[in-house]
Amino acid sequence: MQRILVVDDAELNRELLREMLKDDYEIEMAENGDEALLLLNRYGGDLTAVLLDLQMPKKDGFSVIVEMKGSGLIKKIPVLVISGEYDVEVENQCFQLGVSDFIHKPFVGSIVKNRVKNTIDLFDCKNQLELKVIEQEETLREQGQIIRIQEEKLREEKNFNRLMMEYRSAIMEVETRLKVLNGEFSQEYNRNPFESIKSRLKSPASIYEKMERRGFPMTMDSIRENLTDVAGLRVICSFPDDIYRLADLFIRQDDIILIRRKDYISNPKPNGYRSLHLIVDVPIFLSHEKKYMKVEVQFRTIAMDFWASLEHKLKYKKDVENTDEIERLLKNCADSIEDLDYQMQEIRNKIDRER
Ligand code: GTP
Ligand code: MG
Repeated sequence: MQRILVVDDAELNRELLREMLKDDYEIEMAENGDEALLLLNRYGGDLTAVLLDLQMPKKDGFSVIVEMKGSGLIKKIPVLVISGEYDVEVENQCFQLGVSDFIHKPFVGSIVKNRVKNTIDLFDCKNQLELKVIEQEETLREQGQIIRIQEEKLREEKNFNRLMMEYRSAIMEVETRLKVLNGEFSQEYNRNPFESIKSRLKSPASIYEKMERRGFPMTMDSIRENLTDVAGLRVICSFPDDIYRLADLFIRQDDIILIRRKDYISNPKPNGYRSLHLIVDVPIFLSHEKKYMKVEVQFRTIAMDFWASLEHKLKYKKDVENTDEIERLLKNCADSIEDLDYQMQEIRNKIDRER
């Protein structure tokens, strides 16, 4: 049976409470704060709850609460204050110190039983949740550590560095080809299909994390085979039609192999994300061989890029509240951006026609 400590200077109250609770709990009793602290010391975590009167001779209940708060015991054992009068000030102070609930006199058997039972259940639930959170934090820490260790290992491996060199070469290859197209356009038509190109090589930690998450073996061949975004480029264009024109010209080059094309511009994601994604195999020319490397190229307008960066930032912010509202606002923005992009394109067409 669970053990409860009842602390009250009036014998009548102690006996009343014992009568009400004795069928469900083992009851310990104390008639002042000093005795209560003695018993708290003796039983410690073996106590399931404390029912505590505030006004008592010698040490009063409030001092017991303060001491339990000081020693951290109030986080381990729920305290229910039993009191004769309502004093909002005092009750608030007690709650601030960590008291779980109040039971007011005169005692009603069923209310006392339910209050005590609910408080114990709630406290238990809260403690178990806290334990779970601690366990999860521990697991996350361990996973983080594993990723760091594997990242170190990857960084040191010669074959991995070679693979990264090849991916870097593939990025240069794609970037050059796109820049050539841009140069030609600017010469012939006096305009640039893209504003800028950003590129990035996936970090060893993200490579490890993604391979692990998808259950692929951690070998160089497996990275080559299974990851399509180790080498990534983002091409930022002024107008939507430039995106398609540039992407088509690029894919039509006779040594580029298109693996996958995802058009999130004509089929936006439900959150409003718009971009054109290409996964391509690109040849790189090394001293002794010609080798095909997978590269992910994302095309989007300046406005779509602005949206995607903001949305990405919010997605990874853990403490954002009102996510539904934010998602709705972002979706509205994405739709306005689409309107704006096509309106700007129309204006450009008008200007072009009048030249
Ligand atoms: P990943 O495993 O994340 O690469 O996704 P996937 O294999 O489903 O491919 P997808 O083509 O959908 O996405 C590839 C990349 O596009 C992502 O890694 C992001 O950089 C970008 N992306 C895709 N969806 C979104 C989105 O909803 N918001 C933002 N900000 N970026 C996105
Ligand atoms: Mg990706």
